[in-house]
Amino acid sequence: MSDAANWVDAGPLSELKFDPGAPVHVGGKWLAVFELDGGYHVIDNACPHASAPLCDGTLMDGKIVCGLHLWEFDIKTGVCDVGGEWNVSTYPTRVVDGRLEIAVPA
Ligand code: FES
Repeated sequence: MSDAANWVDAGPLSELKFDPGAPVHVGGKWLAVFELDGGYHVIDNACPHASAPLCDGTLMDGKIVCGLHLWEFDIKTGVCDVGGEWNVSTYPTRVVDGRLEIAVPA
């Protein structure tokens, strides 16, 4: 993450609805938040294949399986099992006073 990132408030953690991911709209785009291994991981919500919401997929072994055509994305790295050209972006997170903040490019 470059120094040009902006930390953006995504709201109180208590209000995020994980099923399994929680959709949030920050920095002008929809992102998907996942809770895994005691941390929060954020990727683009729109599947790069045909734009299905990745927050609604199936979470298995640290990967979100898209509900439309079953492509898999590592929620920590954004790596797509189909090929690198389909990787999704990842975004650093931090928790401040019970609220989730996400670093988005400036
Ligand atoms: S829309 Fe996600 S795999 Fe096709």
